[in-house]
Amino acid sequence: MNLSRAAPRTIQASPASIAAAAACLQAGRLVAFPTETVYGLGADATNDAAVAAIYAAKDRPRFNPLIVHVASLEHAARYAVVNAQAADLAASFWPGPLTMVLPRLEGCALSRLVSGGLPSVAVRVPAHDTALRLIQASGLPIAAPSANRSGRLSPTKPAHVAAEFGEEVAMILAAGRCEIGLESTVVDLTGERPHILRHGGLDRDALRAILGEVAEGAGHEGAPRSPGMLDKHYAPVTTLRINATTIEAEEAFLGFGPDIGLGLGAAARMNLSADGDLTEAAANLFAMLHQLDAEGHAGIAVAPVPDIGLGLAINDRLRRAAIR
Ligand code: TXA
Ligand code: MG
Repeated sequence: MNLSRAAPRTIQASPASIAAAAACLQAGRLVAFPTETVYGLGADATNDAAVAAIYAAKDRPRFNPLIVHVASLEHAARYAVVNAQAADLAASFWPGPLTMVLPRLEGCALSRLVSGGLPSVAVRVPAHDTALRLIQASGLPIAAPSANRSGRLSPTKPAHVAAEFGEEVAMILAAGRCEIGLESTVVDLTGERPHILRHGGLDRDALRAILGEVAEGAGHEGAPRSPGMLDKHYAPVTTLRINATTIEAEEAFLGFGPDIGLGLGAAARMNLSADGDLTEAAANLFAMLHQLDAEGHAGIAVAPVPDIGLGLAINDRLRRAAIR
């Protein structure tokens, strides 16, 4: 957190503020903006210096490539080789929480830094009015990782972004809380078989319905392992334990499902979803971890979350957050 520097300006999204944000992007500056998944830290994806400024602001390892946000499949096709599978997925899930890793179109206008040196590029059409208007108003493909410092929790509210960055971000376009609250699903279509590199807001079964069998997990032949699969990631500052059914002294408890008395006596108790609804839990995950982290407890104990549907992505984030 940059307590020594002024937080960036937060401005409610409107036609005027979106036009101002578009001008900032065109001038090579960084703008944080809402998407349906999490807030993104955006820059002109064709401008190396602007893209470098993202890595700098995030303290992100250079090799971790960025997602390029575009307005449509046609827009994506200016930068990436769109095959039949990609077109099918786009028809079903764009705009939406699906990122496709595709071969970079040779000679395209994108900064190479966006791809972190890989011959591929990750593209996504976000399902958020403000994000789409920003892409359109700027006339640019927008490179945007989640608007958090590297290895920290992803932001689902404007205040989360404001707490992480200083003057290196020109402005934060605010539009309340992100509906999905979990990053997009990343699927690699550059290899022989589609491969899920990161579980996220789009359910694996939805992908299977279009693609048939999809591989997942690390290290299949011919496709790069997603650098975003770095082991320690998405970590709060406070020590975190997963699959907790008991509580230790001074720990906060983050529950899931109906209250059956787990975590009684904890320093604080929150519940990802009292109804056991994984979509609600995903939407609450980062905000609740942010809050418990900020409260400065001795530790955070998280109840077991079932490994099905969005639970896969939630557990993936939790496992990384628990690594010390
Ligand atoms: O929901 C989201 O995806 C958000 C919003 C802002 O769109 N963005 C986001 O970006 O989560 P980021 O940078 O935090 O995560 C991008 C993921 C990383 O795991 C990265 O390694 C992977 O996508 N990725 C990007 N380009 C890639 C490429 N060319 N090959 C393999 N993996 C790639
Ligand atoms: Mg991220």
